Amino acid sequence: MTDKRYPQQMILVLTVVLLFWAGKACAYYVEPEKYGSPIGEVCVQCHKEATPGIYNQWKESAMGQAGVNCYDCHRAEEGDADAFEHKELIAIVVTPKDCARCHEKEFKEFQASRHADAVAALERTGSPEGHIAWGPEHELTGCASCHGSVLEVREGGMLSPESWPNTGIGRINPDKSKGSCTACHTRHMFSREQARRPETCGRCHSGAEYPQKEAYSGSKHGIMYQAYRDDMNMDRRRWLAGQDYFQGPTCVSCHMGAMPPQMDVKNADERIDQALRSVLKGDEREFKALLAPTRVSKRNYGVTHDVSSRLSWDFKPAVSEKREDWQMKREMMQAVCKQCHGDHFVGQHFMQLDHLVERYNNKFAEPATAIRKALIREGKLSSDEYDDKLDKIYWSIVNEEGRKARNGAAMMNPGYAWDKGMKELAKRFDEEFIPEVRALMGRKTDSLLEKYGYADLHH
Ligand code: HEC
Ligand code: HEC
Ligand code: HEC
Ligand code: HEC
Ligand code: HEC
Ligand code: HEC
Ligand code: HEC
Ligand code: HEC
Repeated sequence: MTDKRYPQQMILVLTVVLLFWAGKACAYYVEPEKYGSPIGEVCVQCHKEATPGIYNQWKESAMGQAGVNCYDCHRAEEGDADAFEHKELIAIVVTPKDCARCHEKEFKEFQASRHADAVAALERTGSPEGHIAWGPEHELTGCASCHGSVLEVREGGMLSPESWPNTGIGRINPDKSKGSCTACHTRHMFSREQARRPETCGRCHSGAEYPQKEAYSGSKHGIMYQAYRDDMNMDRRRWLAGQDYFQGPTCVSCHMGAMPPQMDVKNADERIDQALRSVLKGDEREFKALLAPTRVSKRNYGVTHDVSSRLSWDFKPAVSEKREDWQMKREMMQAVCKQCHGDHFVGQHFMQLDHLVERYNNKFAEPATAIRKALIREGKLSSDEYDDKLDKIYWSIVNEEGRKARNGAAMMNPGYAWDKGMKELAKRFDEEFIPEVRALMGRKTDSLLEKYGYADLHH
């Protein structure tokens, strides 16, 4: 009797455990009570005719298929600045906070990332082109389209045309939340597959100062992606580097994507010996245990919406800086690489990168920054940021050629690291920066250059 029932009970227990585990394992698991509002049916029926494009995008999407409807996202509360009456109280803008009702994890990670602070970056510095030469219209269609606008709401809940439409990455919303999830998850498909494609990031990450898309596309990784993009299972729910795809990484693989936990490579030789012995003994259990990946730490190897969490350097300041907790962040980035490359290969890539960055810092960025400061102290330059010829040359060295070189080296593109990067940088330094310093300082130039370690360019 018991013998027969036992397996059935086991199956039941296992099923319950598996279902629970499946719920936990899928980060985006959402309790069914949270969606499928009956009011939404009315929206859907009318919008099938009113806006067939939106209706069809939504119907195709994973959320549409699951039964998340228009009202589940567009609903608004009494008192929301941008709420207006449209059959029901709704808002056009669905903010990250609205998505957080069902996707809290993604919301929190996004808010912690530098992406969420992209508007603050505009306010902090801003370029002369943006503020002086272009004017606010161009700031909106240019800078703010990537960085984000501060959404203004007019009376009656209407969004001001001075700030919307806008889906910049750090947009400040009427509910004070930052960002727009639709910057990457294009509505109304909200597809993970589309968000994983490098073109999604390339909308903002391309150009003279942030040539990540160009650098990536010309690298071995970008070449592999182009050659095998249709075989990389990019529509799969689970997308582990090295397992669900292996042809090459995309931006998302390295900066956001999931990976299986690392195998502990410490004492590898010892463990290989032990593993061999267990095979000879015929002890399969011991063998498997020895090869099983060990979580070296409690770190999250899943998808992260915090794009800052795996970066050890910051290339945005004129002189590159190591980040807080940079070793831990680097380890996370290297854990991705190690799904497809060996330990030494990866470690040495980062050594080469560090050397390039340090050389850029010591040979160009630090002297140029110090010399410019000295010229300001001597009264030869104004302390304003971009009004003198020398400022513009300096800007180009640190923000254009300097960024190309560092991003090119980090993302494995020799053309950016050297030809468009260091080579152009050295040329501009030699042929423009130093002559301009000479024009301002005359005979005092050589002692100035020497003081900042720059006696000989060809060193
Ligand atoms: C009887 C038809 C009908 C129903 C029901 C309806 N809508 Fe609309 N909706 C429209 C039409 C037509 C437009 C476009 C013209 C306009 O803006 O007035 C529109 C516009 C919108 C807009 C854009 C507003 C703007 O100013 O650009 C949103 C968002 C929207 N609807 C969401 C919803 C939601 C959510 C519901 C359900 C609570 C809903 N609609 C119910 C017909 C409808
Ligand atoms: C998963 C959440 C979600 C669902 C479901 C959803 N929307 Fe939206 N919708 C958004 C987001 C996000 C935006 C972008 C608003 C912004 O930030 O500018 C948007 C924008 C809009 C706009 C204005 C932009 C435009 O292109 O005109 C309309 C109209 C609209 N939605 C209608 C609908 C209708 C109709 C449905 C149901 C068929 C629907 N939405 C379902 C999230 C959603
Ligand atoms: C009312 C609940 C609810 C809200 C609000 C909501 N979602 Fe979802 N979302 C879901 C559910 C449920 C799923 C799972 C669908 C499935 O199981 O395939 C999902 C899945 C997703 C996915 C995975 C899509 C894929 O290709 O598999 C993305 C991306 C996503 N949501 C983004 C968003 C964004 C962005 C917003 C805000 C604009 C949002 N969601 C708002 C319930 C919601
Ligand atoms: C095509 C999209 C795009 C446009 C347009 C754009 N930016 Fe950016 N901006 C970026 C990206 C991407 C970065 C991050 C670069 C990186 O990390 O390498 C950035 C970085 C910056 C930074 C440095 C941020 C920091 O954390 O230190 C400032 C300041 C800035 N941009 C200002 C501006 C201004 C002002 C304008 C308009 C004149 C502008 N940007 C236009 C995409 C853009
Ligand atoms: C910088 C681009 C970007 C932004 C912005 C972004 N996402 Fe995503 N999101 C992605 C990518 C890429 C994936 C797929 C990652 C993977 O599986 O490799 C993803 C996956 C998801 C998933 C599925 C999660 C899972 O574990 O499978 C959800 C849900 C989601 N995003 C919600 C959101 C919400 C909510 C926001 C706004 C707070 C948001 N996303 C903003 C790029 C983005
Ligand atoms: C709508 C524009 C936009 C899109 C799309 C976008 N980014 Fe960004 N990203 C930015 C801006 C602007 C910054 C600079 C923010 C700052 O420094 O204030 C940035 C910064 C970053 C950083 C540097 C963060 C740091 O801490 O320095 C990384 C890494 C990054 N983005 C990766 C991605 C990836 C990967 C994607 C695609 C999945 C993506 N971004 C899509 C605009 C965008
Ligand atoms: C093979 C992995 C890999 C791929 C693919 C990749 N990156 Fe990177 N990325 C890196 C590494 C490594 C760094 C430098 C890491 C560090 O700071 O230690 C970096 C740095 C960055 C930065 C920070 C620059 C700064 O100012 O500090 C941005 C932004 C960025 N990548 C965006 C992208 C985008 C967008 C793509 C796709 C077009 C992409 N990356 C593809 C590995 C990758
Ligand atoms: C999904 C698998 C995958 C991941 C993840 C991955 N790579 Fe690669 N990588 C490849 C493949 C495939 C090649 C091409 C091999 C060759 O050069 O023949 C390659 C090539 C390279 C090259 C050689 C470039 C050249 O021009 O010769 C370097 C360096 C490199 N990867 C570094 C890294 C680093 C560092 C990381 C992590 C930040 C990383 N890779 C992540 C698959 C991957």
